[in-house]
Amino acid sequence: MAVDVAGEDAPRDSAAVVVAADSRNRAAGRELAERLKLSFLDSDAHAPPPAPFVLRLGSDGLALHSVEGCFGPISCDFAGGRLRHRHQFGGGLGQGIARAVGLKPDSDLWVADLTAGLGEDAFVLAGLGARVVMLERHPVVGALLEDGLRRARQLAENAATAAAIERMELILCDAAAWLQGRTEQICPDVIYLDPMFPERGKSARVRKEMQALQRIVGGDEDSGVLFELALDRARYRVVVKRPRHAPPVGPRPVSFAVSGRSTRYDVYALRKLPGRT
Ligand SMILES: C[S@@+](CC[C@H](N)C(=O)[O-])C[C@H]1O[C@@H](n2cnc3c(N)ncnc32)[C@H](O)[C@@H]1O
Repeated sequence: MAVDVAGEDAPRDSAAVVVAADSRNRAAGRELAERLKLSFLDSDAHAPPPAPFVLRLGSDGLALHSVEGCFGPISCDFAGGRLRHRHQFGGGLGQGIARAVGLKPDSDLWVADLTAGLGEDAFVLAGLGARVVMLERHPVVGALLEDGLRRARQLAENAATAAAIERMELILCDAAAWLQGRTEQICPDVIYLDPMFPERGKSARVRKEMQALQRIVGGDEDSGVLFELALDRARYRVVVKRPRHAPPVGPRPVSFAVSGRSTRYDVYALRKLPGRT
């Protein structure tokens, strides 16, 4: 049975409810629902949940399920599967994202990922040596990411994965507000942006996951404002991830772009990166 623990200032049409997979996760599930201002279901064993999405908390972590079954569970799994594979065999510093950000073997860059999402890009950058602060403003996405980091800290068997996770910091807030609070001395070296847009890549997997996230998060309509702020605050560069054939995010000329099969990284170089001739 659904319990409304969201309180009076709950969002009017919540797209998700929190469900505890079993009695061991009931207290934590209830606490999560309170924090996210969502309704809480004791168990998903009964009637269909009263929302299109379910955040299910079990002993294996937190996962987002679609009640209509239009995508498989979405969770952050840094220590296993596809992300670990990419971390180990993804092409290292030759990858487009690394070249766009300007990572080198000994560079100690501090990157702010203003649109962290499920943290995949941030994990790649951290795996290649960057220190990454991730900003995420959507509570459901933030909860998935927070849970993924927590589990990776506990479970990462691989030393390189554990070291990458140590270099990642998550702040759950609007990135614009965070950036506005930066003074020149404490601005990130590189600012990375990957705003949500309607058409993303051709692979069915990407499309399903991103479509699901988009239904929850909506479009990032204010990304132009974030971009302008990023240009004002980054020390060396701003990098914007775009679909390969999409126009740049704003009228400012792109310094250079790094294109892959379906993605393009537009680089706005503001100053020379440290240690470059
Ligand atoms: C396309 S997803 C990013 C995917 C991410 N690059 C990854 O690798 O998993 C965009 C995310 O940015 C977040 N976002 C957009 N604007 C934001 C802002 N101003 N502050 C914080 N998060 C923001 C959205 O909530 C969404 O989760």
